[in-house]
Amino acid sequence: MNKKILIIPGDGIGQEVTTWGKKVLEVIAEKNNLQFDFQEGIMGHVAIVATGDPLPDETLEKAKNSDAILFGAIGHAKYDNDPNAKVRPEQGLLKIRKELGLYANLRPILLFDELLAASSIKPEVLKGTDILFFRELTGDVYFGEKNRSEDGNFASDLMNYNRYEVERIAHKAYQAAQNRNKRLCSVDKANVLETSRLWREVVQEVAKQYPEVQTEHMFIDNAAMQLIRDPRRFDVVLTANLFGDILTDEASQIAGSMGMLASASVGDGTGFFEPIHGSAHDIAGQDKANPLASILSAALLLEISFGLKEQGAEVTKAVDTALKRGYRTIDIASSDTAKDKILGTTAMGELIVEILKEN
Ligand code: IPM
Ligand code: MG
Repeated sequence: MNKKILIIPGDGIGQEVTTWGKKVLEVIAEKNNLQFDFQEGIMGHVAIVATGDPLPDETLEKAKNSDAILFGAIGHAKYDNDPNAKVRPEQGLLKIRKELGLYANLRPILLFDELLAASSIKPEVLKGTDILFFRELTGDVYFGEKNRSEDGNFASDLMNYNRYEVERIAHKAYQAAQNRNKRLCSVDKANVLETSRLWREVVQEVAKQYPEVQTEHMFIDNAAMQLIRDPRRFDVVLTANLFGDILTDEASQIAGSMGMLASASVGDGTGFFEPIHGSAHDIAGQDKANPLASILSAALLLEISFGLKEQGAEVTKAVDTALKRGYRTIDIASSDTAKDKILGTTAMGELIVEILKEN
């Protein structure tokens, strides 16, 4: 197997964490006699500083010519506090999603038993939770027309969906549900929004083609509540772009820390893999960031883009082993510091590499 992988570290802690995602891919390649060719590209705040453009053409070209992309993080506080900034790091991420047709964002809520206590939700409510989110990623209010009146006193973002956009992600979600616990919850706001009524209509249609999957429709407000009340009731959750953005951040707390969650964005072409955490500039460059989400993103890349299921599972297992041996980064440390062995980014990355080499 010969594959081209583009690494886009992005902003803040992105550089530190992707270093370890990449390293893990190198180890897997070495162990399995695979050929991975790596390239690097810039995107986000770092790209604005270097070129004025959050997604330079050169990066987009490299992305289109690669077999998979491992991305770090995006964003900078400078823009968050300046609502008038015309050029923003996040535009790079939105553009690459659109350009590569990455319409399905998969966010598995993977729960490691060792981290049950790291969540703010009671362990007995959490234990056994296993949710796979399908968030639509190239439509909705994210990409609808935006307006601001001349006097600046009125603003609007158009929320829109096409039938085919709902159909294609619904199929992906149903296919996944079929291979899991055969339950799918579609989340919308059909009691208020026309886009949600289209969404529900299409999902009901698609559902007919997957009779063995049990379908449930839930309003977003209720879903946000049910998710922490009884997370085990969910298997596959299918939802639109904005609802999915919010719901998956909430769901990350089920797993104890955003530092643990990986995501895959897929569509018709090159797959894009990234942690769901942000750029965390406050801890960037201090060897404090948790590299496990990037490492788990590399595992998803192996499984989804290259079909290397066993190798992906091996990476996930290495993370589990490190946790079982008591190693933690600071964000997932328990209050019982005598019990935890706290590691920095580098030491945690090295530990995972070591475990992978043990087998
Ligand atoms: C995410 C992020 C992005 C989004 C931002 C950075 C544009 O929050 O991937 O969830 O809203 O989609
Ligand atoms: Mg988000």
